[in-house]
Amino acid sequence: MAKLTADALREMYLKFFESKGHTIISGASVIPENDPTVLFTTAGMHPLVPYLLGEKHPAGTRLTDVQKCVRTGDIDAVGDSAHLTFFEMLGNWSLGDYFKKEAIAWSFEFLTKHLGFDPSQISVTVFEGEPGIPRDDEAIAFWKEQGVAEDHIYLKGREDNWWGPAGQTGPCGPDTEMFVDTGKEPCCEQCSPGCGCGKYIEIWNDVFMQYNKTADGTYEPLAQHNVDTGMGVERTICMINGYKTVYESELFLPLLSKIRELATVELPEEKRERAERIIADHMRTATIILGDPKGGVKPGNVGANYVLRRLIRRAVRYGMDLGLPAGFTATMADIVIGTYKNFYPDLLEKRELIVAELTAEENRFAKTLTQGRHEFEKVASVMAQHDQTQISGKTAFKLYDTYGFPLELTQELAAERGMTVDIDGFNKAEAKHKEASKQGEGVFKGGLADHSEQTTRLHTATHLLHKALKLVLGDHANQKGSNITPERLRFDFSHGEKMTREQLDQVEDIVNEQINRALAIQCDTMTIEEAKAGGATALFTAKYGEQVKVYTMGDFSKEVCGGPHAQNTSELVAFKILKEESSSAGVRRIKAIIGEPALEKRKAAGK
Ligand code: ALA
Repeated sequence: MAKLTADALREMYLKFFESKGHTIISGASVIPENDPTVLFTTAGMHPLVPYLLGEKHPAGTRLTDVQKCVRTGDIDAVGDSAHLTFFEMLGNWSLGDYFKKEAIAWSFEFLTKHLGFDPSQISVTVFEGEPGIPRDDEAIAFWKEQGVAEDHIYLKGREDNWWGPAGQTGPCGPDTEMFVDTGKEPCCEQCSPGCGCGKYIEIWNDVFMQYNKTADGTYEPLAQHNVDTGMGVERTICMINGYKTVYESELFLPLLSKIRELATVELPEEKRERAERIIADHMRTATIILGDPKGGVKPGNVGANYVLRRLIRRAVRYGMDLGLPAGFTATMADIVIGTYKNFYPDLLEKRELIVAELTAEENRFAKTLTQGRHEFEKVASVMAQHDQTQISGKTAFKLYDTYGFPLELTQELAAERGMTVDIDGFNKAEAKHKEASKQGEGVFKGGLADHSEQTTRLHTATHLLHKALKLVLGDHANQKGSNITPERLRFDFSHGEKMTREQLDQVEDIVNEQINRALAIQCDTMTIEEAKAGGATALFTAKYGEQVKVYTMGDFSKEVCGGPHAQNTSELVAFKILKEESSSAGVRRIKAIIGEPALEKRKAAGK
């Protein structure tokens, strides 16, 4: 039987939900817009948060798409049969439209009639209930209606079958997960869907958002009942085609065979396989991030930039283990681009940039390793002078963390000098570091980003700022990025030089003038072509004919944007620029605040 490819699966899924009245929308950038709580888009629902909270979506109440997702929380597990740092999520949404009955019926129909799974292969899990929240009997009944046998329906608790809220409060609800039975023997008597032994593979999750968790911890029924679903492309094609691992699909095979062809070092089977998988996974993710239409993420030391650096350097390190030639990252990128170019044409357009960034990072890493070697020599000679023979865990970890030295390399170099390494100490230092970076990175717990009133107002301020910059500096001052926290906005735009004091004052005055004019903010829905014809600034590429929202602020600003926004510019009270600085070559960055503090600062500045 012909293999089902990712290209075919995407199309099948979108067409199926289109036939059920859904509008096919473009997946969003993998680099989130206006969202301080996450580094990357991690689920299909994530770009849709405002609409799940009640904001009207321009494409209606039934949506479907394919979303690029990056999750690096489990980066150390990559190399096994299933963990990936990049994956595509197929999703369908009901925004206050259909609910459990249809969601379950369509999920089952798609799995059995279109993907061809035997109904007896499908097992599902359903929320078992807890004090204050009933068991999800509706979901159970609808599964039975589909013909799913009672012994294929498993009741599970919050850990398995509850989704959200992300923070302390917000929309959330029970979910029902679908598993395919691989036919393996159960690992034990308790083996059931959700067990990690590999008998049951989860392929789809339907979330029923029907509660709002309030600050006092109670769950009140939500006015708008939503459905949010997610199906992983890689896992699904793996299951359908009967592959043992996700790496057997056309998304990975060309990468793996190239790695094997280029490798010059023979490693033991298990080690070799793990290295190959890590390189393939990380290079795929790095290429997707660098080739994203929104752009702006480059290898660096903080946030998303650091994640990208880590992915590239890890791939290079494992590449060294296999003896891959210098410059292999560019070869890998070309393969990834070839695999994905039909569905993500931006990759092809950005090929030069992708290859340049990867090659530069590969070179920088090589330099760092050389420096690390010097550092090692220094440490080793001081130790020799003091007759010490064990390199401390802290030092070994510094070599690893700062200079990218794998522990094995430090051990090898140490052994050459008759020294050892404190492995226990290294592990402790690593665990401590991981804990710290988890705290720093673990802002995203499932997708409900911060859409408080203050961030909404700051978002409105970025539109006013954007237009004011164009008026003062010229039309070239295009938005390059935006990041909003509840305290401030940060806005990146193209401009070749430092702004003068006068220009900053002018921009600030213009924005404050628009705030004082109390302009009404209006939202209209139209196609991207109509928006552009109407003079709206459009930042990102929506597909031809796709419906978009256009936010108009009086006669001053008109931008294609998902929202949400304030209703009137007067809600911003006042606007103050705190800082203007360089962001990268040809891109400047402004940090600004609004509201009472801005007023105070303006007064203090005598304005
Ligand atoms: N948002 C749900 C998930 O990520 C569908 O599983």
